[in-house]
Amino acid sequence: MRFPEDVPTLTADAVTLRAHTVSDIEAAYDACQDAEMQRWTTIPVPYERQHAEQYLTEFIPAAWRDGKSWAWAIEYDGRYAGTIDLRPQDGNLGEVGFAVAPWARGNGVMTGALRLAVRHAFEQGWDRVVWRAYVGNWGSRRVAWKCGFRNLVTIPAGGLQRGVRQDEWVASIARDDEPEAQGNWWQVPVIETDRLRLRPFRSTDAKRIAEACDDVRTQEWLAGLPQPYQLSDAEGFIESRPANSAGGEGVSWAIADPETDELLGCVSVFDLQNRIDSTMGEIGYWAHPDARGRGVMSGAVRGAIGHAFTPIADGGLGRRRLVLFAAEGNTASQRVAEVNGFTRTGRERAASPGRDGVFRDLHCFDLLGTDPRP
Ligand SMILES: CC(C)(COP(=O)(O)OP(=O)(O)OC[C@H]1O[C@@H](n2cnc3c(N)ncnc32)[C@H](O)[C@@H]1OP(=O)(O)O)[C@@H](O)C(=O)NCCC(=O)NCCS
Repeated sequence: MRFPEDVPTLTADAVTLRAHTVSDIEAAYDACQDAEMQRWTTIPVPYERQHAEQYLTEFIPAAWRDGKSWAWAIEYDGRYAGTIDLRPQDGNLGEVGFAVAPWARGNGVMTGALRLAVRHAFEQGWDRVVWRAYVGNWGSRRVAWKCGFRNLVTIPAGGLQRGVRQDEWVASIARDDEPEAQGNWWQVPVIETDRLRLRPFRSTDAKRIAEACDDVRTQEWLAGLPQPYQLSDAEGFIESRPANSAGGEGVSWAIADPETDELLGCVSVFDLQNRIDSTMGEIGYWAHPDARGRGVMSGAVRGAIGHAFTPIADGGLGRRRLVLFAAEGNTASQRVAEVNGFTRTGRERAASPGRDGVFRDLHCFDLLGTDPRP
C-alpha cells in the first residue's frame, strides 16, 4: 500500500475516514492532552508534540505500507476529530482501536466511524473484528455495543497499559453478525414522587448500604448477603450496578430522601434475561432500619413497577409480568406486595434458607401488566 494514495476514504452521514495529513498534528496533540484519552488508551504520558509528529508522519504511513495497521483520521464538522485504526492479525481477524477529541464527543462520531471501519474490515476479507477496552471505559463499551459487538467477557489483568496490568473487556463482531446493538442496555432513570426519589447508586451511598445490609432483620430475610456485611461489600455492590444494567440483567435504584438525598433503601427489578420468559422480572428490595414503617418501600416499589411495565420504546423495561417472593413470617415484605396489587399465587414449601439453618416457606406473588393497580 502506498501512503497516502492508497488509503481509502470512507464516508457516511457526518463522518469521514481519510488519510492523516501533517495539518492534523496540532489537533491530535491537543486531543491527547485530555485526561480521558490518557486514562483509557496507551498513548505516552506526558504526551508531547513530538509524539504526535512521530505518530502521524512516521508510524502511521509505515504501518499502511507494511500492512501492520490501517489508521484513519476521523473528520467531523470539517475538522480532524480523532483516529480509528484496524490492526490485522493472522487468520482473517483483527482488532480495532479508536479515540475522539473531547470537543467532538457525544455526537455519534465514534459510532459512525466504527461502523465504517468494521464494514471495511469485512469487505477486506476479515471474518471477525475484536474490540478491547479497560474495564470502566463505559463510553467505549457503549459505542462497541451500539455497533453490534457482542459476547463481552472480562479478562482480569488482560490488558497492559504503560507497564501496568489492567482488567479488560473484550467483545467482537463476526462478518455475518447483524451490526446492531444486541440485547438491552437498561438505563436507570431518576423517578421522583412527592415523598421519594429513585436514582442510580453513587459511591457516597456505601456507608448507608453497609448499615442497612448488616442489620439483623435484613440479614434474617436476605440470607444470601455476606455476613458480616462490610463497607467493601457495599462498594462492590455499587461498582457492580452499571454492568448489571448494561448487560441487560437488571436495574437497581437507590431509594433516596427527596430533600436530603440520603439513602433509604434499594429496589431492584432483576432476572430480566430469564431463559424461559424474557418478558418477566422479579422485584427485590431492602430498607435501611431508620426508614422502615412509614411506607417508603411501598412507594418505591410502585415507582419500580411503573417503569417495569413501561414499553422499551418509551424508555421502560417492557415487562409483561412481575414476580415477588417473601418468606413466611416476613409480614412487612408481604404487605409491600399486597398494597401494590400483587396477587398471592401460592407458597413454595421450605424454599427460603434462614440464618438459623431453618428453611421457611416462600410466599409467591405476581402482577401482570394488565392487572388493575392501586
Ligand atoms: C469512548 C469515545 C471513543 C466515545 O466517542 P463518542 O464519539 O463520544 O461516542 P458516540 O457519540 O458515538 O457515543 C455513542 C454512545 O456512547 C455514549 N457515551 C459516550 N461517552 C460515554 C461515557 N463516558 N459514558 C457512558 N456513555 C457514553 C453516548 O451517550 C452514546 O450513546 P447514545 O447514543 O445512546 O446516547 C470517546 O469518549 C473517547 O475518545 N474517549 C477517550 C479514548 C477512548 O476511550 N478510546 C477507546 C479506547 S478502547
